[in-house]
Amino acid sequence: MNKTPILALAPMAGITDWPMRTLCCEMGCNYTTTEMVSAMGYLTAPDSLHVYRHLLAVNKEEPSPAVQIFGHRADLMARAAAKLSDLGKFSAIDINMGCPAHKVNSSGSGSALLKNLPLCAEIISSVRKSTNLPVTVKMRLGWDDESLCAIELAHIAEDCGADMLTVHGRTRMQQYSGKADWQAIAQVKQSVKIPVLLNGDIVSAQSALDALSMSGCDGIAIGRGALGRPFLFAQISAALAGKPVILPTADEIIDTAIRHGEMMRAWKGERSAVLEMRKHMCWYIHGRSGAARLRTRITAVDSMDEVYRLLDEFRCLQKNPHDS
Ligand SMILES: Cc1cc2nc3c(=O)[nH]c(=O)nc-3n(C[C@H](O)[C@H](O)[C@H](O)COP(=O)(O)O)c2cc1C
Repeated sequence: MNKTPILALAPMAGITDWPMRTLCCEMGCNYTTTEMVSAMGYLTAPDSLHVYRHLLAVNKEEPSPAVQIFGHRADLMARAAAKLSDLGKFSAIDINMGCPAHKVNSSGSGSALLKNLPLCAEIISSVRKSTNLPVTVKMRLGWDDESLCAIELAHIAEDCGADMLTVHGRTRMQQYSGKADWQAIAQVKQSVKIPVLLNGDIVSAQSALDALSMSGCDGIAIGRGALGRPFLFAQISAALAGKPVILPTADEIIDTAIRHGEMMRAWKGERSAVLEMRKHMCWYIHGRSGAARLRTRITAVDSMDEVYRLLDEFRCLQKNPHDS
């Protein structure tokens, strides 16, 4: 591979907000996407509704993210894409054709679209016509093993004007179980000319190198592997440059968690920041000395001061692991 690969943070609802994206970009991530946004919900909500203001918030310090929309009506998807493009703060419109959640699929959106390829074509073409931004599609391999359609959908997307694909190497019925099929993603990559990002199960610098070399993809998108580990992007960047992969120290992990908390508090206020940081803190300390014992207390914290006290306690535990 000659070009620098795209190292993307995969969209994750409730997680890939601007603080998370900012931290990942500081560590070498070079492509991000917002959490998914309902096209219909966005078009019908009053402009002041804080849910959408939060979902669509962009930090002026971060590289501009793509915005992901979901829905099942081509006209609404196109109108939402046009309105979001007009905000002038997104780098691309990403169409969600992969979400396996029942409440999204029951209306025919997300991965339910994989059962209706003509509708996929209509949605991609309509969104393409509605914006000058790049249009990208995030998809799975198919609805189930009997209806794999990734190659066919990739051709449709390319023909309808999509600029890039992200392929999660699982079917909808697999949800998040089993292993992502990188070979199947490699076949999608070989069948189209537009860039393809491989997604699924990248959790280390080595798995990133393996995924890139075996698939020939233009980049990778990392979801769960980046939870509490924005450092993973720095590790992958180092490995790609042939440099040693250095794991973060306990101090680096804690300082990053503190910054994450500070950004959250400055943005959403104390109460929401505490609720958000409960889950992020569990991910930051995961697998380290004393984490299991602290986790129960973390899930009950109710002020940011308490968050910082627990992180300090965790810092001490890393220096004196026998105290745990
Ligand atoms: C908590 C969570 C939320 C997610 N939300 C979205 C979403 O909003 N849009 C989307 O396209 N994919 C979403 N995904 C799927 C991820 O983008 C990714 O495709 C999947 O996790 C597989 O990649 P991974 O093995 O690197 O985690 C979500 C995944 C998780 C775990």
